[in-house]
Amino acid sequence: MSSLLIRGGTLIHQNGESITDIYIQNGVVSLGAKEQTADREIHAEGMLIVPALIDCHVHFREPGLTHKATMLSESKAARAGGVTTVCEMPNTNPPTFTVEALTDKVRRAEQVQDCDIRFFMGATQPEHLQELRSVWTGTSEEMKHLKKRCCGLKLFLENSTGNLKIEPETVHEAFKMCSEIGCSITAHCEDPLANATAAAATTSNDVSAHDIMRPAESEAISIEYAVTLVRNFGTRFHVAHLSTALGADYVRQAKAEGLPVTCEVTPHHLYLHTGHYKELGTLVKMNPPIRSDADSAALWKAIADGTVDCIATDHAPHLLEEKRQHPPLSAPSGVPGVETMLPLLLTSAAKGIISYGDIIRLCFTNPNAIYRLGKQDITEGSSPDILIIDPSEKWIVRASELHSACGWTPFEGFAAQGRSKYVLKASEDFQLPPENPSQVV
Ligand code: DOR
Ligand code: ZN
Repeated sequence: MSSLLIRGGTLIHQNGESITDIYIQNGVVSLGAKEQTADREIHAEGMLIVPALIDCHVHFREPGLTHKATMLSESKAARAGGVTTVCEMPNTNPPTFTVEALTDKVRRAEQVQDCDIRFFMGATQPEHLQELRSVWTGTSEEMKHLKKRCCGLKLFLENSTGNLKIEPETVHEAFKMCSEIGCSITAHCEDPLANATAAAATTSNDVSAHDIMRPAESEAISIEYAVTLVRNFGTRFHVAHLSTALGADYVRQAKAEGLPVTCEVTPHHLYLHTGHYKELGTLVKMNPPIRSDADSAALWKAIADGTVDCIATDHAPHLLEEKRQHPPLSAPSGVPGVETMLPLLLTSAAKGIISYGDIIRLCFTNPNAIYRLGKQDITEGSSPDILIIDPSEKWIVRASELHSACGWTPFEGFAAQGRSKYVLKASEDFQLPPENPSQVV
């Protein structure tokens, strides 16, 4: 075990910041100015020191969709974007409906260094809920191990990539059982009937019809329905990728009522709106769709007033050739985002739109608490993953320099201010990964 001294950096806490030397010996942090020498030093004057981020909503495509991406490729992208923990969604092939499928994913993830990958289980039918119950309540060492790697149940209340929409009769049962066993539910909230009605009334074939066919009211109806189940059963409930002003209002009301409801927003719903269809076409086709600029503004407001708990990317790599499919409305939905979340947010912080402390609250503290991930913050005696950021570096986002296997980004050409410089993992004894020269100052 080697020792490391990070000198003169600004440690960001949820509620402020302080310039602090960080000394790490035998994998354990001590804080404050001491006359230490170490095997290695990082001169971090002017840099921000934060716990490496958590992205609690990603699709890494393995197994079954590895022509799009793999756990290995997307974990590299995550780490390059300052993220070392992710919660991965069940819409793989096979879907993560069974103990067997979860076991397979956990085994695969154990081969991956760059990222700690946790997995949601999914369900469309009652028997899938029984598989989750085994994981959540099982007393064998095998089940306890699986439970540690599982972040809860993910439900698709409407179809999206993979067509995992839960049967309506099973939704009640899911909320009831999850309340009983103490497991949280995270849901993709869109209402199938509202979408079907809107789609039937749409004649356009243009990609811009996507958000007309999956309208804002659909999200609101679905959240309202889920909240009635939370009210009945007391289940801990998290709204995935909240995209509308109306939806944010429902979450705000549920919180005011004291219900155990939380939510996340994506960078694409914050930074993109329907005006971007013209320039970006199917590259900005995703579910839920991008919305009006008024909706984006409402999401920023919901961040500011504490309605939004997390920012998570819904990182959903598809190949460019798939995205360019015709007709445009048949192109798959989803955008990559795990590597661009941090630069986007740092750029907003540099403009005074959000604080660095808020970024840590939204992308580390809250997801860590909501999903009980057990990740460590940078405190005396801890062994956290550490992210060192240069907040002043100006650079242009280029897909050719990003790491996702999909090879494109909707944020091509974005003028960023702020960049990850080092991502140090406790599990690697805080060594720099030699294969990532962009992280060497
Ligand atoms: O746009 C999306 N893409 N929304 C989803 O719900 C799924 C995701 C994917 O897996 O491609
Ligand atoms: Zn998703």
